Amino acid sequence: MTIRHYLQFKDLSADEYAYLLRRAAFIKGKFKAFEKHHPFADPDRTLAMIFEKASTRTRVSFEAGMYQLGGSVVHLTTGDSQLGRAEPIEDSAKVISRMVDLVMIRTFEQTKIERFAAHSRVPVINGLTNEFHPCQILADLFTLVEYRPAPGGDPLDALRGKVVAWVGDGNNMANTWLQAAELLGFTVHVSTPSGYEVDPALAGITRSDCFKTFKDPREACAGADLVTTDVWTSMGFEAENEVRRAAFAQWCVDEDMMRRARPDALFMHCLPAHRGEEVTAEVIDGPQSVVWDEAENRMHVQKALMEYLLLGRL
Ligand code: CP
Ligand code: NVA
Repeated sequence: MTIRHYLQFKDLSADEYAYLLRRAAFIKGKFKAFEKHHPFADPDRTLAMIFEKASTRTRVSFEAGMYQLGGSVVHLTTGDSQLGRAEPIEDSAKVISRMVDLVMIRTFEQTKIERFAAHSRVPVINGLTNEFHPCQILADLFTLVEYRPAPGGDPLDALRGKVVAWVGDGNNMANTWLQAAELLGFTVHVSTPSGYEVDPALAGITRSDCFKTFKDPREACAGADLVTTDVWTSMGFEAENEVRRAAFAQWCVDEDMMRRARPDALFMHCLPAHRGEEVTAEVIDGPQSVVWDEAENRMHVQKALMEYLLLGRL
């Protein structure tokens, strides 16, 4: 059987996302009803989680999710494994993938996860790289569909034609939003300070009609169905913190920006958030914010994703 990896959002097709979004709703329903759902119990399945950067949500959602599916996890970090002592990534991939059924990696360059996947016997999932964060966008789309479903219930219909305003850094989250927009037929209004723009080549998109750029973040929010942002300084870029603080000062999502969006617009943030920097407390803690459901949904969508990569459509 061919191994399927999830290294970028575009590694799955629109039809597969339609399945996953429905499946995640089913799996979430089981969780909420306290019903057992153990596809990974017999035979036992194990997930290795490799963290080269810090995490709260990704760690808890994958670990709790794997146990809830009847499987188990192994947690590795750079500091407590040979990964931090220069063992080649290819050797690590060959060894780890002989002992577990799935691998989730959070690391720096996308090329690192690609090299690992090229030598892995089992599916590899991107738990965030400098370039992409596909599991987060999967959760964000699921949350958007949950709050704003299409009349017929088709998750892809719910997303098609939507406008997502991205206010802030042209980072891993922004790149992944662009891939999702290209694949699923919605538009991203991107506003970044100059010098921090998205690069379509780096984002891995080919069509230019899935996003529009705006100098003024307020204009980017006009008519949006969803306003979303992220930290000004991503992990690995801490040395640029002070320069970024000055450059991003006008890119703080506030109530005025939310007023320019549609009246029923949602606010999302992948978290962790810095109130008073990329978003005001009034917005993130306000009535349009769905950040806590968004965070919880990481677990439900990743359970669907792990199940799909290992067992296919059930
Ligand atoms: N959103 C997200 O990936 O959070 P963590 O860094 O806490 O995993
Ligand atoms: N862009 C952020 C996302 C954190 C979940 C980072 O890479 O640090």
